Parts: sequence; structure tokens; C-alpha cells
Amino acid sequence: MTGLIPPKPKPRAARASFFRHAQLFRKDIFQSQPARLYRAWMAEFKLPFYKSYTINQPELLSIVLRKRPDDFPKSEIVTAALFSLLGKSVFVTNGELWKKQRRIIDPAFEGGRIKEVFPSMLEASNAAIARMRTLSTDTPVEIEEQTSQMAADVIFRTLFSIPITDAIASETFVKFKAYQRTQPLLNVAAILKMPRWIPSLQSRKTKKAAQAVRVLLSDLTHSRAQLIADGTAPDDLATKIMTTADPETGDLFTSEEMVDQVAIFFLAGHETSASALAWTLYLLAADPDTQSRVAQEVRDGFADEEITFSMLSKLPFTRDVFREALRLYPPVPMMVRENKNNEVFRNRIIKAGSQIVMSPWHLQRHERLWDRPDEFDPDRWKTEATRKCARDAYMPFSAGPRVCTGAGFAMVEGVLLLAQLVKHFEFETVAGKVPVPVAHLTVRAKDGIFLKIKPRV
Ligand code: HEM
Repeated sequence: MTGLIPPKPKPRAARASFFRHAQLFRKDIFQSQPARLYRAWMAEFKLPFYKSYTINQPELLSIVLRKRPDDFPKSEIVTAALFSLLGKSVFVTNGELWKKQRRIIDPAFEGGRIKEVFPSMLEASNAAIARMRTLSTDTPVEIEEQTSQMAADVIFRTLFSIPITDAIASETFVKFKAYQRTQPLLNVAAILKMPRWIPSLQSRKTKKAAQAVRVLLSDLTHSRAQLIADGTAPDDLATKIMTTADPETGDLFTSEEMVDQVAIFFLAGHETSASALAWTLYLLAADPDTQSRVAQEVRDGFADEEITFSMLSKLPFTRDVFREALRLYPPVPMMVRENKNNEVFRNRIIKAGSQIVMSPWHLQRHERLWDRPDEFDPDRWKTEATRKCARDAYMPFSAGPRVCTGAGFAMVEGVLLLAQLVKHFEFETVAGKVPVPVAHLTVRAKDGIFLKIKPRV
């Protein structure tokens, strides 16, 4: 037990007027949620323009995600909100098209392939260390900016064998940030059917920014198609995906379809990992004893050698730290589905077309499921009780057939980057700067996460 209770947003008062709720919702979705969501099995939200059911009961989650996922497709609101960037990517499609896309994509993310792209992840981690060495040791550093850059670097290197310093990669990164700035309310918008006072999901600015990203991704995929045709393509994730035929139909992705997929790998693969790493580093800074244990494990595991894929198995505590951070700060705080048919949940009729919200944020801090739910305690993962509870109540990567494609990839990336960073640096919190979690595209800190970074001696 560490006794550390890291920042948690203040829930709203039990009773709030419609306008108060709306006001809070605009500011931050977390603050607009009532405290009872941390104890309830299901909560119904009815507003004049919207009806949703947040489900926390493991049996209900299992129905939606594992047993009958076809009856609970991705909400059209999510698709509409992301269309200009993602087109028909695997993240937003449903039914047969989605199944076919997963058949083509999944082989690229199998365990063996992750081992093959490990050297690219390692290069990205070494580049991050070199970059961070140039930072001042006295001035606090905004850590999300750093982790965002390293996660983007990992994606570019593993997908297209190019570093973030490459001209097209860095331009994509910059344009992508511009896109995100036009979509500050994306998550909120995806969860509610928005009334007029929320800016349009597809503002002209958003569409323009998305188009700029897609032009660059299109260049990358078209030149890769050429290299594949010439027989000179590098053996990375893009080549693997673009040369994998659907085992059922024999179809390959067209270049245009591949642009949609690359857009989601970039979006889902870098924002999420950046958020996870930033919060993990904050937790380690706030809990120096745990940070020392990670540093010790890393020293014992690979001392002066360069870390290899197989050495990751020598870092069980580092892995548990990352797992625990994903429990407290799941990068994707909420997921939304729509029920195709009328359903009966907890004796209530849920009309077809309702929004079914699943909230890893609330589930993973649920007071009736977790012991000391708000405490940061990586050692809890050693107990059978936690592992048993996690089967039902831990889903940072979602669950069932629609589970995150990159879950295995992200766990390797997270543990590697964490081990490398803690091996080379010490992280300290800054007095008076406690980050406040907010639900943006992923869980971020309202005004950033500032830490002091010193070389570890
Ligand atoms: C810590 C890192 C990550 C977390 C916490 C995470 C979490 C998630 C979650 C919760 C979903 C399901 C969303 C929903 O159903 O609404 C998802 C889907 C997805 N993720 Fe991740 N993800 C991470 C990293 C990655 C990486 C590294 C990649 C790829 C390089 C990736 C690719 C995807 C894709 C393609 C989907 C869509 C799957 C589908 O709908 O069939 N993710 N992720």
C-alpha cells in the first residue's frame, strides 16, 4: 500500500438543475457526472434532447461487449464526429465491413509481430532520452508534450519505418495537433446528442484540419504502395497490413482504405499511449518510493545493457505500475454504443437507439468492486483478489471482439518507455501544480502535467 490518493475530479452535487448539468458538461464531462456513478450498477440520464444509460454492472458489460456485440454497434454520433479524419476506419465501422477490416489488421498486431517492431520502439525510446537530456533540470517540464512526441515517434517508426524528425512525419504531427485543437469537445460530443449550444461536430475548421492530415497520410500510403510493388518495402506494420489479404474474400485494402486505417492507428495509437505514460510518470513522481523500486528493478533487469524484448519479462513491477496507472487514468475514459433493439437491463426497458455508455473511468474506481479504489497501489496486482476483480472490472483496452487492436503493442511500448525513462531520469512533482484530470479526446490534465526532470545518478 502506498497510501497515495492521486487527483480525482470532483463529481457534481447529487441534484443539479438541467442548466447546471449542461454548464458543467461543457466544461468537463467528469465534473458533470454525479458521485453515485462510482457506486451504481446502472445510471439513467434523461435530458430533453438525450437519453443514455451508463452501465457498470459486469454482467451488463459482458452482454454489450462480449456476448452480443453485434446488437450494440458503435454509436452513429461517434462516427459522425470523427468522419472527416477517419473516413471508414476500423474504429468507426460496424457489421461485415468492420469484421473484414479486423481480419486484415489483426495479424499485424500479433505477439510475434510486436517482437519484430520492438527495435523500432527502442530507437524511439533512445531518441526520447536524448531529447529529454537537453531539457533544463530547474524549470518544470510539461510532460504530456514530451510523451505525445515519443508516442508519435513510436507510431511512425513501427508503422512506416520513419522517425518523427522526418519531414513528412513531423508535419503530420503538427497538423494533427492543429486538428485536435479544433475538436476540444470531441469526447463530450460523442457521448451526447448535442444541442445547438455546442459547436458543430464537423466545423469547417475541423474538416480543413482533418483534410490536411489526410493529404500527408495519403502521400505516405501511396509511396508505400509503390515500394511494395517494386519489392523494396521495409518489413514494418504498414507493409504487413497492406500485403495481408482478407482470408475470407482475398481482398486487400486499397490505398484509400489504408489512409483511413493509418489515420486511426495514428489517432488511437499515439494519443492514448501519450496520456497513459504522462499519468504514470506523474504517479511515480508523486510516489518516490515506488519510483525507486522501478529504478531498482530496471537496474537489476538490464543494468548497462541495451534492453531487449525478452528482458521485459524481468520487469513485472514496472508492468504493474503501468497497469495500475491505466486503472486510475484509463486514457479512453468512456465508450459509447447504441442498442439496435429494445433491451431489458435491470428490469428497465431500454428503447432501441439509446446511448449505452461504458465508463472504464468509473468502473475501474467502482467502490463496490475495488478495494481502496482511489489509491495508487501497484502491489495490488500481485493478489488473486485483484486479478479476479480485473476480469470483470478492468477494461482500459475495452473487451470482447472489439477490444483495442493495439493492446499488446501498447503494453510493450508502455513498459519499455517507462523503464527507459526511469533508468535515465528522476521525476519530481512541482509544489502547487496538481494536475486536474479532464476528459478530452483522452484523459488529459486541465493545465498540463508539470514535473521536474533530473538525470538519474
Ligand atoms: C495505452 C494505450 C491504448 C489504450 C488505453 C487504448 C484503448 C482503446 C480502447 C478503449 C478502444 C475501444 C474504443 C471503443 O470501443 O469505443 C480502442 C480501440 C482501438 N485501438 Fe486502442 N488503445 C491504446 C493504444 C493503441 C495503439 C498503440 C493502437 C495501434 C497502433 C491502437 C489501435 C486501436 C484501434 C485500431 C482500435 C479500434 C478497434 C475496433 O473498433 O475494432 N490502440 N483502444
